[in-house]
This record gives sequence, C-alpha cells and structure tokens, in this order.
Amino acid sequence: MTTHSPAPVTVVGLGAMGTALARAFLAAGHPTTVWNRSPGRAQPLRTAGAAVAPDLFTAVTASPLVIVCLLDTPAVDAVLVGAGDALRGSTIVNLTSSTPEDARLVGAWAAAAGARYLDGAIMVTTPMVGTPDALVLYSGDADAFTEHRDTLAALGGEVELLGDDPGLAAVHDIGMLDVFFTGMTAFLHAAALVGADGVPARAFLPLARRMLALLDSTFEQLARDVDAGEFPGDEDTLAMELVAIEHIVDASRARNVDPPLTEAMRDLVRTAVDAGHGKDGFSRVVTVLQGAPAR
Ligand SMILES: NC(=O)c1ccc[n+]([C@@H]2O[C@H](COP(=O)([O-])OP(=O)(O)OC[C@H]3O[C@@H](n4cnc5c(N)ncnc54)[C@H](OP(=O)(O)O)[C@@H]3O)[C@@H](O)[C@H]2O)c1
Repeated sequence: MTTHSPAPVTVVGLGAMGTALARAFLAAGHPTTVWNRSPGRAQPLRTAGAAVAPDLFTAVTASPLVIVCLLDTPAVDAVLVGAGDALRGSTIVNLTSSTPEDARLVGAWAAAAGARYLDGAIMVTTPMVGTPDALVLYSGDADAFTEHRDTLAALGGEVELLGDDPGLAAVHDIGMLDVFFTGMTAFLHAAALVGADGVPARAFLPLARRMLALLDSTFEQLARDVDAGEFPGDEDTLAMELVAIEHIVDASRARNVDPPLTEAMRDLVRTAVDAGHGKDGFSRVVTVLQGAPAR
C-alpha cells in the first residue's frame, strides 16, 4: 500500500477567509506557504506552522498549487500581474468572489501566463471552512482539478467540479446569493409588515418557516416547469396569485411599509397576466424575467 504525504500548497491573501483556508490546509497536514500584501497578517499563521514567504515570487514558486483569496478581482489582477512569469506551470485556484465574466477573464489571463486555472466560490462562513458542512464550488481545468482534488478536500465538504467553463462557479454562486438575499429581504419585509400590527418577528418566525418548507417543494416544481418551458396552472393560476400579491401591496401601503419589493413582484405577475397568461402557473413569471416576448 502506498501512502501519499499531503501536497504543498500556497495561499495568497490572508484576510478573514484566506486565513481560514490556510488554517484548514495546515490542519490537514499540508505544507502551507502564505503571503499577504500587508505582512502583519501572516504572523498568526507562522505560529500555526505556515511558511511565511517574504515576497509574492517566493510564495507562488513554493507550491504547484496556488490558492488566491482576495477582496475582489482588481486585487486578483494586481497580484497575478505582480507574480507574472512565476506562475508558469502552476495551478491557480482563485477563491475570490467574482462575476462569471471576471472569472472567465482571469481564466484567460492565467492560460496566457501558462498556468492552469480553477475558479471557486466559497459558499460558507469562515468557521465552516475545513468542516464537513463547507461548500466550495469549483469550475475550470478538469485535469488540474483531478490532480489537486485531494488537497482541495482539506477545505471540507464535497469537492465537485461544475464544469470546465471557469465562469460556472460564479454563475452558481450568484444564483445561490440571489435566492439568499431575496429570501432575507422577503422575511424582513414580512417582519416589518406584521411588526406594524404589533407582531414581533420571533412570534411570526414559526409561520415564516412553514412557508420555507413549502418553498422546498415549490422550487422543485418551478425548476421542472422552467426546464420544460411549460407553465401549467393546474394547482395555482397567476390571475389568482395577482389578487393575493395586491393584498400585500395594499397592506404594506396602509402600514407605511416600503412596498417596492412587492410592487416589483406584482408588476412581474401583472405583465404575464396582461399578456394573456392568467391561467398559467407562477412559473410563467420566468418568461417575463427573461424578457421573452409575450406569446
Ligand atoms: N469572510 C467570509 O465570510 C467570506 C465568505 C465567503 C466568501 N468570501 C470571499 O472571500 C474573499 C476574501 O474575503 P475576506 O473576508 O478574506 O476579505 P478581507 O478580510 O477583507 O481580506 C481581503 C484580502 O484582500 C487583500 N487585498 C485587497 N486589495 C488588495 C490588493 N490591491 N492587492 C493585494 N491584496 C489585496 C487584503 O490584503 P491586505 O491585508 O494587505 O489589505 C486581504 O488579504 C472575498 O472575495 C469574499 O467575498 C468571504
């Protein structure tokens, strides 16, 4: 039986997340080299066993796998351009949150610099990194992913490649954040609404959770309709739902609760109804969101 010692890895960027990533690699026994623009942030990791590189060149040439986790894409550009030729032959895993377009541009830059590129999106908070509950989405070079999969496993959770388009991780990231932020805003809107009548948010919470449970099965149905391009109104119709949504708008106005969120939702549904889709189900709204011509 052969045993492999944990492969070396470099982490560039030691903010809150970069530090958590470096600690996870160290905890899994990987020889870990770290570098940060402001050197002071590396000191706690030195104590934890990391090799602190004196400069970017030393950092990126210390390991075949270079993890980059910085504030934003301009910071990534600055660091990668600064490293230049030193990255030739390396695999870059960029875990900086970005748009799909930026991820593809950085991927093209990496390819031109002779590096293999994986883009990643970290979908959890820093304490979850390295635990079974971690979720990091990857897309990009499949060979590089296979080669470094065991090292990336140190970050925790399932380690899956979404596809070879480097923009795919960011596409899924943005989709998940869309659900998250829209959901949070919806809950806050509801909390303001019921709060205006003296109902504390915590008292309302159990009923809000009932809707969360309902959303679980509803998402499945919506996904089926969206993919099929069919929007049956067997169980619900947009005409009926428009009336319910109008109630939210009216009740919000009556309580001076800012109504644009519900008005936007109402307008989407109304556009579909006005285009003759009142007997379709709620999934029909996707065609309005897609800007498809009303059929
Ligand atoms: N924190 C989280 O819970 C979390 C969760 C999911 C995803 N993420 C993502 O992880 C990434 C990093 O987040 P973070 O929380 O670690 O941010 P952070 O604590 O603000 O750290 C930002 C890092 O970027 C570096 N940086 C900024 N501008 C730079 C530049 N022009 N050149 C070189 N380095 C530069 C900073 O270096 P200095 O120390 O020199 O300023 C620092 O290392 C972001 O894309 C974020 O969206 C974070």
